[in-house]
Amino acid sequence: MSEFATRLIAWQKVHGRHDLPWQNTRDPYAIWVSEIMLQQTQVTAVIGYYAKFMQRFPDIATLANATQEEVLQYWSGLGYYSRARNLHKAAQTIMAEHGGQFPQDFEVIQQLSGIGRSTAAAIASFAFNQPQTILDGNVKRVLARHYLVEGWPGLPKVEKQLWVLAEGLLPEHGMVAYTQGLMDLGATLCTRSKPKCLLCPLNSTCSAYQQNRVKELPASKPR
Ligand code: ADE
Ligand code: SF4
Repeated sequence: MSEFATRLIAWQKVHGRHDLPWQNTRDPYAIWVSEIMLQQTQVTAVIGYYAKFMQRFPDIATLANATQEEVLQYWSGLGYYSRARNLHKAAQTIMAEHGGQFPQDFEVIQQLSGIGRSTAAAIASFAFNQPQTILDGNVKRVLARHYLVEGWPGLPKVEKQLWVLAEGLLPEHGMVAYTQGLMDLGATLCTRSKPKCLLCPLNSTCSAYQQNRVKELPASKPR
């Protein structure tokens, strides 16, 4: 197993987040809803909306049978309303094409409306323990720094490099702690500004830290 993964998992178990409302469940629906809300919205803002949404739409069938108008009411204030429309549409697809069961096949998950590769990987790892890597903005920053990946991560060539790197780091065991650890490290220590490298479990192997280049990475959008 990569040293990166071993250290990240050990750190997550002690210093990571364990009590968010969508943790401590294996229900793919509950995890899916949280991941969609968290795509463009901060954890603190999501928590209240998530509780109300799950109370009104506790499972896929209930969401699929609701009107779009009501689903949008429950999303009102979260923004990026296409997320809610896609969630509703995907719930109806799961009822019509997957017998009401959230699919486990990684390719099939990605075919659902509103679920890209990274969100599919979050669901597959949290709900089904599958070795799939997330790669959101936070994770791109951690990897770009730790492995000195040069270039703006929005460039297809750079993004491809990051996907390959991320896949190669996956652990054999402990996918839930690993995936959550990637999210937690990027959110709490390896932040965009003022990262807390002195507290970081990866600082002895982090190339950017070792070479004093943390401020330079990831590179910003060329103009
Ligand atoms: N951002 C996206 N997914 C998350 C999760 N499961 N926990 C905390 N922040 C997240
Ligand atoms: Fe990020 Fe600093 Fe940790 Fe490197 S040492 S991964 S830059 S927090």
